Amino acid sequence: MVRKRVLLFALISIVAAGRNFAQAAPRSEAEVQHFVDSLLGQMTTEEKIGQLSQLFVFDSGEAVEKSVAAGEVGSLLFITDPVVIARLQHLAVEKSRLHIPLIFGYDVIHGFRTIFPVPIGMAASWDPSLETQGQAIAAKEARSVGINWAFAPMLDIARDPRWGRMVEGAGEDPYLGSAMAAAQVRGFQGDYLGAPDHVLACMKHFAGYGAAEGGRDYDASYISDAQMENVYLPPFHAAVKAGVGSAMSAYMDLNDVPATGNRWLLTDVLRHEWGFDGLVVSDADAVKSLVKHGYARDLHEAAVRALNAGVDMEMAQDATAFGQGLAAALKSGEITLQQIETADRRILAAKVRLGLFEHPYADQARITGVLGDPAHRTQERVAAERSAVLLRNENGLLPLKKGAYKSIAVVGPLADSKLDTLGAWAFQEDLSETVTVFEGLKSELGASAQLSFAPGVQITRKFFSFFDKIDHTTHPPPWSAEQQDQEMKKAVDLAAASDLTILVLGELHDMSGEAASRQSLELPGREEELLENVVAAGKPVVLVMLNGRPLNLDWASARVPAILESWYPGTQGGNAVARLLFGDVVPGGKLPFSWPRSVGQIPINYAHNTTQAPEDQGKRYWDVESTPLYPFGFGLSYSQFKFSGLRVSKTKINPEESLDVTVDVENTGCCSADEVAQLYLHQQYGSASRPVRELKGFERIELQPAERKSVRFKIGKEERTYWSAATRSWVVDPSTFDVWVGSDSSASLHTSFEVTR
Ligand code: BGC
Repeated sequence: MVRKRVLLFALISIVAAGRNFAQAAPRSEAEVQHFVDSLLGQMTTEEKIGQLSQLFVFDSGEAVEKSVAAGEVGSLLFITDPVVIARLQHLAVEKSRLHIPLIFGYDVIHGFRTIFPVPIGMAASWDPSLETQGQAIAAKEARSVGINWAFAPMLDIARDPRWGRMVEGAGEDPYLGSAMAAAQVRGFQGDYLGAPDHVLACMKHFAGYGAAEGGRDYDASYISDAQMENVYLPPFHAAVKAGVGSAMSAYMDLNDVPATGNRWLLTDVLRHEWGFDGLVVSDADAVKSLVKHGYARDLHEAAVRALNAGVDMEMAQDATAFGQGLAAALKSGEITLQQIETADRRILAAKVRLGLFEHPYADQARITGVLGDPAHRTQERVAAERSAVLLRNENGLLPLKKGAYKSIAVVGPLADSKLDTLGAWAFQEDLSETVTVFEGLKSELGASAQLSFAPGVQITRKFFSFFDKIDHTTHPPPWSAEQQDQEMKKAVDLAAASDLTILVLGELHDMSGEAASRQSLELPGREEELLENVVAAGKPVVLVMLNGRPLNLDWASARVPAILESWYPGTQGGNAVARLLFGDVVPGGKLPFSWPRSVGQIPINYAHNTTQAPEDQGKRYWDVESTPLYPFGFGLSYSQFKFSGLRVSKTKINPEESLDVTVDVENTGCCSADEVAQLYLHQQYGSASRPVRELKGFERIELQPAERKSVRFKIGKEERTYWSAATRSWVVDPSTFDVWVGSDSSASLHTSFEVTR
């Protein structure tokens, strides 16, 4: 009894001491550990196991409340109502024996109330600071309602656009992906874990999920060791280096070992090699799924193997396998108390660092102000503008001149759809303030033009998404064949009668995202037909794309004069698109993936190996070019840029040395605009074959007309290190290196240097 009191006193005084600096500075490691040790010293085994469970609930219910009050749950996810969050937190803090607060998790993927462009769009900005700002706003909004843990960033490299979750990541490239990973971690977490208005970030899905066979979501991934180390893992490692506080284990089988039961991934790589000291949560029901995978015999064994692999907390829809299996496993000696305590330490440490013991409750009075902050909407619009990629602009059709077109047809099923302006993983938006492309154009043009809208076609998934229930998607009754023809005709007639058509095509918000893979990259439904009919109407056409993956634009890329890729551009998306089209801002985004000509070219990532017949088209497909439609890194501007004077600071270095590469970039065109200088490297020979080129530096710069800037890149040991399948280790080879710098991955400005022995 006396011992208990002393410990409780110690605990309270730590909490009280914490209060003084709760929001101002990170807690020291010693303080955190001392606090956690004191707690652990008082916890029963049941309470220790309870902390390892995270329940997936959409609302509270009697059963959940009972578990919370009994201290049987460490975390809840998917509760977003601040009143419910507060009620549950009060239960945890006031009713559970040791008053341990819950940590509330949620999928804060690209915004909370303010919905930013989808992650693939943010990556297309090639502007890490934009990512940081965006995720800082998302964190602030989420935290304001009491959510302290974001299940983002998603860091899965995606080289197969059939895979729907490509929309959630940064595309095909590990270097760009790593830069965006670190930037997002900084945005979510701030300068340190526990920084005011920030949350715990969770890198996911560890690891290899993007390589699902056939692009089919959840299917197994088979990834060679070299690809794993050189391509799929680097963004995760970058996030760890940036201090990410948690990781989510992936669903799928990785080389026949499910990621959630994969000790090599979760312990050898993550903990031992990288020194990650945060917590690992499983993906939803992924521990229980070890049984479905044909990996664990039953739930009991699933719990044991997940814990042994390195999962600290289990996310599950109903009772967790941890909750059901770990107590018995402890008794039978299959696991040790120390293992449970290790997982507890990581979870409790995160709660301490986040300040949840001192400030378990959100300040209800602040919520409306934070969620309604107009500065967040402005920043979102800027993000949408900076994410857009101009794919084509024949004869300078863009920017459109205000007043030059008296009547404008806005055509397409996505042109005036609010949900489809936002994309997947948006649930907390205010649809009434979401600006569609049609609405954005109306407010941009005012009375200066007559705008009319026609959807033209209706598009739909063959198999509906389970997200429909969560994001309030309703499916309008399908059009009859006759109605389809009438709507098509209406749209084409409108285009023919107008001075200009802005055609908005792509995919519905639920055609990309989780469980949203497809076998084709064609424009869905009759969109291609609509496109061809509208072009045949003979008036100028601008194509605006809303989508999260490359679609087949082979026909459009030769016949539609202007194409703007605007992704799912978010809350202010329509305003951003209108401002881009009318030249208030100049597009400067670049593709974060290679855009295939057709689905049959997949995978077509630019960083493929050199091979025995490097440039020989005749030895590849005989029915199509082996180049992509648009290369990785590609994006036009309303202005033009010239790259020149590529130079290296040294032509010969030893393996330990670095050198500088400098290039001059000049704006030779009409207007102030941004260009992204991109550096690509190629190792000519070495212990293993290396890709034909790899991105190793980039910088987005703004230039006034006729202005010239020098951009300098450092090529150090890190940029030349790779995992060699020949030596089965990380190597830095002596070799000759090619360097290209330019505006995309097909850059031709070249120099080289040598690394001696
Ligand atoms: C997804 C995760 C997500 C989790 C919680 C899973 O189905 O794979 O990305 O964070 O659900 O919503």
